[in-house]
Amino acid sequence: MATLEINDLHVTVDAEGGAREILKGVDLTVKQGETHAIMGPNGSGKSTLAYSIAGHPKYTITGGTVTLDGEDVLEMTVDERARAGLFLAMQYPVEVPGVSVSNFLRTSATAMRGEAPKLRTWVKEVKTAMEQLQMDPAFAERNVNEGFSGGEKKRHEILQLELLKPKVAILDETDSGLDVDALRVVSEGVNRVRESGEVGTLLITHYTRILRYIKPDFVHVFAQGRIAESGGAELADKLENEGYEAYVKGGVSA
Ligand SMILES: Nc1ncnc2c1ncn2[C@@H]1O[C@H](COP(=O)(O)OP(=O)(O)O)[C@@H](O)[C@H]1O
Ligand SMILES: [Mg+2]
Repeated sequence: MATLEINDLHVTVDAEGGAREILKGVDLTVKQGETHAIMGPNGSGKSTLAYSIAGHPKYTITGGTVTLDGEDVLEMTVDERARAGLFLAMQYPVEVPGVSVSNFLRTSATAMRGEAPKLRTWVKEVKTAMEQLQMDPAFAERNVNEGFSGGEKKRHEILQLELLKPKVAILDETDSGLDVDALRVVSEGVNRVRESGEVGTLLITHYTRILRYIKPDFVHVFAQGRIAESGGAELADKLENEGYEAYVKGGVSA
């Protein structure tokens, strides 16, 4: 079983007036097959955690470790992270002119599996996954992220997740900007991947709404750059009722 292990992670971001420490000692272990939700107020550093694991150049790791099966993730290039089995939903947020969704998916699958998927089975795989996500087949011929609506971006993310079957997937605010129907379709996709038992999921979200569709095994409250409390799914219910106030008192929440 693959394990993503984050130990005492400290991260600064280059801001005007110098570097600012955003992550102040994050500890978290995600095993293949587990679903973890990270919840917290805006500005608490949730996306910074995702970007840091993704290897975004704006974020400097000043302390701590991130390993996947004991391998140092922080030493890997972005491509190596993907090949090692890490899926980061924000990894390809940009438009890729001239590259169709279908080509992009096949190239990614080839990189992750170490060989090109057989064309006949691959076409079927893509078709099935797209039907399950209620995506128009014409979508496969569009250029990656070019003019995608919010909902299309999220469906494209989940399509990648279903086809690439990573060891650990990090989904940052996958629920934001989705209407109820899209949220349900996207959640069902995450649940299908989860039922395979092969993927560990780190679901980062501000709202408790998506957790009505996806029941996490673990919930972590993120506040002021670290995990303030961890628990089971019941912790999300508590947050839904009480909000984050108890965690941000005396601290800054942007
Ligand atoms: N690239 C950046 N440049 C400057 N400040 C940043 C950058 N990324 C994050 N921050 C700051 O770090 C803090 C945490 O942001 P973020 O990780 O996006 O929080 P969250 O995702 O929990 O809302 C905020 O105060 C934000 O302004
Ligand atoms: Mg964020």
